[in-house]
Amino acid sequence: GAKTTEKSLDKKPIDYQEVYNAIADILEDNDYDDGSIGPVLVRLAWHASGTYDDVTKTGGSNGATMRFDPEALHGANNGLAIARERLMPIKQKFPEISYGDLWTLAGVCAVQELGGPTIPWRPGRQDALDGKSCTPDGRLPDATQGERHVRDVFYRMGFNDQEIVALAGAHSLGRCHPDRSGFEGPWQEAPTLFTNEYYKALRDRKWIKKTVKDSGASQFVDKNNPEVMMLPAEIAMKNDKEFSKHINTYANSEEKFFEDFSKVFNKLLELGVPFQGNERVYHFKPTTA
Ligand code: HEM
Repeated sequence: GAKTTEKSLDKKPIDYQEVYNAIADILEDNDYDDGSIGPVLVRLAWHASGTYDDVTKTGGSNGATMRFDPEALHGANNGLAIARERLMPIKQKFPEISYGDLWTLAGVCAVQELGGPTIPWRPGRQDALDGKSCTPDGRLPDATQGERHVRDVFYRMGFNDQEIVALAGAHSLGRCHPDRSGFEGPWQEAPTLFTNEYYKALRDRKWIKKTVKDSGASQFVDKNNPEVMMLPAEIAMKNDKEFSKHINTYANSEEKFFEDFSKVFNKLLELGVPFQGNERVYHFKPTTA
């Protein structure tokens, strides 16, 4: 009767801008890396989505299967438990949100709050109940490999060369951790600012090969600032004619990078998601001026 009607009216839909604001509130942490958990949240959103296979239509952020073994234990996901745990207070505050929506929204929030472009985002991911739909290991890129491997992995998701290069610009944020990937250091000197500096660094600096002491991994460092690094896969991309054309475009125009990154990050986060078609598309308002 009337009581049940009242009850169902009580359950108001989630205001995702409120979720965004709550995530923005927990990004800063002076005891963590460079002072922000934003970069590792972007990596969580990417690794949740980048398992997609456009041929079999499996993987992607729907299901949030990284919560389960064996996907949680895949080497590529080392260190991402930290990101998932940091988001638990937000999940407790907004229990109706699915993990897939929460993780992808957190990636959007981090990019925007760290100075990047507005990324259109909509809800619609549903949580898997167990690990049965976990994807096999090996779907995410291996940084020790070359341009051929990078193309194989991203073409499988449905991206072209321009989109691959635009996505790679997310390495403007964050750093490598020897205990997670074996690599060490940030890609540029301001790893909590989303800019096109990554492309300028990749194109213009002199990169020399170096072995990471703790892990034995081989990477490249800036001759003038050996704290700053590039992965072998990225040096291979720089040396590829088609990839380098797009690196040059984005090094020359941050505006073009922002425009293209917004589109391609939205596309990444939506791979394989069974939208109904009537979801509201959010353009989140930044909390910073
Ligand atoms: C970090 C590899 C593409 C976002 C990393 C790390 C590696 C890596 C090895 C270091 C992990 C650690 O030690 O903590 C690659 C390769 C890619 C690729 C080989 C493709 C060729 C992407 C894409 C995005 C992304 C497409 C997002 C759109 C990030 C971010 C971090 C990161 C934000 C920093 C995480 C942190 O600071 O904790 N990536 N990645 N990456 N990756 Fe990628």
